[in-house]
Amino acid sequence: MKKALIVYSGGLDTTVCIPLMREQGFEEIVTLTVDVGQPEADVRQAADRAREMGCEHHVADVKEEFAAEYCAPAIAANADYFGYPLSTAIARPLIAKKAAEVAHAVGGVDAFVHGCTGKGNDQFRIEFGLRLFAPDIPILAPIREMNLTRTWEIDYAERVGAPIGQSKEKIWSIDENLWGRSIEGGRLEDPNYEPPEEIFQWTASLAAAPGEPETVEVEFRAGVPVRIGSVSGTPLQVIAEANSLAGKHGVGRIDIMEDRLIGLKVRENYECPGAVLLIAAHRALEALVTTHAERAFKAQVDAQWAELAYQGLWWDPFMEDLNAFIGQVQRRVSGTVRMRLFKGGMTVLGRDSDWALYSEAAASFDDTTSLEQSQMTGMVRTHGLESLLYARLVRRG
Ligand code: ARG
Repeated sequence: MKKALIVYSGGLDTTVCIPLMREQGFEEIVTLTVDVGQPEADVRQAADRAREMGCEHHVADVKEEFAAEYCAPAIAANADYFGYPLSTAIARPLIAKKAAEVAHAVGGVDAFVHGCTGKGNDQFRIEFGLRLFAPDIPILAPIREMNLTRTWEIDYAERVGAPIGQSKEKIWSIDENLWGRSIEGGRLEDPNYEPPEEIFQWTASLAAAPGEPETVEVEFRAGVPVRIGSVSGTPLQVIAEANSLAGKHGVGRIDIMEDRLIGLKVRENYECPGAVLLIAAHRALEALVTTHAERAFKAQVDAQWAELAYQGLWWDPFMEDLNAFIGQVQRRVSGTVRMRLFKGGMTVLGRDSDWALYSEAAASFDDTTSLEQSQMTGMVRTHGLESLLYARLVRRG
């Protein structure tokens, strides 16, 4: 008996994979839903559908692990891929890792199956993780390999009686986890189409956001957020609270042009209220405790980190190198940041740290002891020496 493990979300693409795999001779189907903080209703629906279709269903709740081992490093790296805090991207490696673990635990799995299309980034991220952790198990991607369209999938599901519920009426393709929510497809693909209010679920519209600003304090210890407002706890608890606070004020809507791995430019919409708030606070604290050279270099390290995270190369040696530098800097990123949230906007009101490299005495115009301004004359007079020499040469022409 041939056995397939389907990385199963319960949506249209992965649901049609079940009968398709049976047609291809896989009699035993194991389904796995990895809970990275998508709506509980989705996790439940996946379980119901899998059981209805006679699959051996597994659920892996990895929310704490995702928050601590994936989202926290993303905060440390100020995760930013052209404005996108990489919410879908950083969940894929963990989903693949769990799928490999379950395959090994279940035993006798002849193939992994995933529902990624051939145009997105997720196929790269998921398959890299699967090949890394279970190199001996072949991977099938029926939607990509059979060139399937949504319309074909809906017809097929109806023909074979696969439960796909409201799929026909669903216009948007949504991916959700505790780090953010991505909304794509339908008319949103047109870069010039204004996103309708209905696509947003985590963030209030400007009109509906409270008319009063709210001040919130975020506390970090070694780069990890440990408290937001009155909620102290694990990264998962802090991120959940950040999502609800920032979301309430309409902070965290993102509309960007994104360059996919395959060289495809696409329009993407996200709502990542917690990520946007926590990363802004983290940046503000980092700016207080790092030297100029560290800041400038870290901006480049962060950009490289975002490229690799976007590509799903979570376990690449370069990623380890970047994380080593980032981690070294984070040892001093402890302290608090005060942020104001108001009508879709966010302002840093203040920051404080025992590791601050700021000296009031040095910066103050009234102080004459720690950094005497008269001593600067020599430095000022040699500033731009090469530029001046160059200008003289050019003028001589
Ligand atoms: N463009 C984003 C990314 O590549 C979001 C992808 C959403 N994935 C999905 N299967 N709907 O990270």
